[in-house]
Amino acid sequence: MIKFDEANKIFHLQTKNTSYVFGFLKDRFLVHLYWGKKLVSEQLDYDMFLDYMKYRRNMCASDYNDIRLSRDCLPSEFSTFGNTDQRTPSFHAVYKNGSFITELSYDSHIIYKGKKPLKCLPATYVENDDEADTLELTLKDELTGIKVVLSYTAFNELDAITRSVKVINTGADRVRLDAVLSAVVDFKDNDYDFIHLPGAWARERHPERVSLMTGKQIVDSARGNSSAQHNPFFALVKKDTTESMGDAYGFNLVYSGNFTAGVEVDPYNTSRAFIGINPFGFEWQLESGEEFVSPEAVLVYSDCGLGGMSRIFHKLYRTRLCRGKFRDIERYVLINNWEATYFNFDEEKILNIAKKASEVGVELLVLDDGWFGKRNNDNSSLGDWYVNKEKLPGGLTQLARKVNELGMKFGLWFEPEMVSPDSDCYRAHPDWCIHSKDRIRSEGRNQLVLDLSRQDVCDHVYNSLYENLSTVNISYVKWDYNRTMSNIGSALLAADKQGEFFHRYILGLYSVLEKLVAEFPDVLFESCSSGGARFDPGMLYYMPQTWTSDDTDALERVFIQYGTSMCYPYSAMGAHVSIVPNHQVGRTTPISARGNIAMMGQFGYELDLNKLNENEIEAVKEQIKTYKKLGSVFHSGSLYRLVTPENGNFVSNEFVSEDKNTVIVSNCVMRAVPNSPVYYLKLQGLDVNAVYLLEETGKCYGGDILMSAGIPYQLTKDYDTRILVFKKQ
Ligand code: GLA
Repeated sequence: MIKFDEANKIFHLQTKNTSYVFGFLKDRFLVHLYWGKKLVSEQLDYDMFLDYMKYRRNMCASDYNDIRLSRDCLPSEFSTFGNTDQRTPSFHAVYKNGSFITELSYDSHIIYKGKKPLKCLPATYVENDDEADTLELTLKDELTGIKVVLSYTAFNELDAITRSVKVINTGADRVRLDAVLSAVVDFKDNDYDFIHLPGAWARERHPERVSLMTGKQIVDSARGNSSAQHNPFFALVKKDTTESMGDAYGFNLVYSGNFTAGVEVDPYNTSRAFIGINPFGFEWQLESGEEFVSPEAVLVYSDCGLGGMSRIFHKLYRTRLCRGKFRDIERYVLINNWEATYFNFDEEKILNIAKKASEVGVELLVLDDGWFGKRNNDNSSLGDWYVNKEKLPGGLTQLARKVNELGMKFGLWFEPEMVSPDSDCYRAHPDWCIHSKDRIRSEGRNQLVLDLSRQDVCDHVYNSLYENLSTVNISYVKWDYNRTMSNIGSALLAADKQGEFFHRYILGLYSVLEKLVAEFPDVLFESCSSGGARFDPGMLYYMPQTWTSDDTDALERVFIQYGTSMCYPYSAMGAHVSIVPNHQVGRTTPISARGNIAMMGQFGYELDLNKLNENEIEAVKEQIKTYKKLGSVFHSGSLYRLVTPENGNFVSNEFVSEDKNTVIVSNCVMRAVPNSPVYYLKLQGLDVNAVYLLEETGKCYGGDILMSAGIPYQLTKDYDTRILVFKKQ
């Protein structure tokens, strides 16, 4: 619900459990008043929020109408550069006369039920107008004609708030936008920890929690993709916030390109949180009459700790960000040949893998990198998306048919945004890659990035995929992206528009994806980027799952999946069992641990099952059966991280089905501790009055007992894992 108090000019956004309040102080300054636990009070006025200004009289005039009032001490809802607010601006533009001052004041607003799509950008959506309310507040700079429309949507039941910003140039002259952040939120204190998800290739999203310091702390990407190094997510939590208790504020950007996300703490201990497109490497020339739309920021508050925050993100993303027929149905158990063969395969090898897989219940075979052009290593052929007849003389059609005859579906790997210098594509179109005239074209993994800011290149990418998807029976596409961008430049952009490159690239990518997923609704798309270097909500809008990491080691995956689950649901995480010793870290873990840890996500195998012994094959059969039985609870149930890996040697994740009838507890001990104490694990989110049967033992427990007294656990071997299933009686 969104209320507007006309007399005080206060907007009050309410979701099921939260309130977000801001308004026009004395008709002039758009101030942020409150975000947190839901306020039921109807009487909101400025004094109750801004009394603290009295104590800062020496810094700012105490009379709100006083022209000397310093905005540097006002909590702002949208800050522009060029006035007395000296902190990180939401908006920064340069006008024809060279001035970079913007002064915005109220123009108009509308409040309506539902939510409109964002033009050319991914965003959360509603299926029914009653699910959310939207406010569009328009501000205007009289001098320049720049209008800024702030859009807020309050998702009622889903408990989240989304924000985005549209800039409209109603003036006569072109304006250069230098920064348009999607959300800025001012907090009145600095008593928070900053949690973010740093990482690297094969070690993505390991959460880091640090105290706020005075000054700016920023995580960002200027690599062209959201990246493995940082994720466009952060949370601010109180010092005493835990997994299950305390205030947690989560920020996430629905965007796959360069971003900035951070907090600025001023000398008076206020904290300004911000998230949006990275202003570094961004410029946008906005002609008279044109509009610029920022990506969407998702803001989540929970007073139930990090777990409460994550559950809100999970449900929102699972049900109102992901789209298409695969959103709500269980996906395929797949087998991927990458770690089994790398580039070294032929039809016979692939069919051998497929045959064994079909016998144990695997549903789809993915042919990974190396099936096209003359690609036998990573030196060539990206861009030449036609089959390598030496490896597959019967072509993809024959291979797909033979896989289908085994009762399995067929999936294929592409890296559509890339081109190898050694490819027919590059030889024919050397200007199609990202490059700057007369500069070297730095390669990453021996490849260049195609320039998706160009329509002709986007068309080529679309057509290459279309050609394969419309002629071969392909049920799944792995869309990879294996290097970051460098030597930025586009052959078609004018000199004064080169600064638009990064964002134009992402818009081009999104336009191709939108067309493809609309054209092929029966194909399951999974995004990938050297593992999980583009695990962001932007990609999830087009593809409901992402390959979480190239690191398939069970122990490392415990950490990666834990960090990823801060913001993203398990239904979005591709997770496979691979061979041991593990190819990334050399570790040997039991097949049970590899299976139990992978099956929380979108489950599959990344090995040649012919190489397993009989016991392992039996274990695989059991895993697939278990997954078929429990997968829907892992994916659509509520996640309670009962024990997190950073707290020691033991990890426990609990999944509660929406109807609370099935509860799964997945436990893992990393390192055996001889003669270890017995611990009690207290479950969460159960029906207190119900009785639950533990399937393994046939014993019944009251929901209250499981939550308050807990159940004993003790795992005694290295990488010992156990899945407990409780059924409500
Ligand atoms: C990336 C992916 C891998 C695999 C290879 C193929 O690294 O993350 O899963 O597809 O590319 O080259």
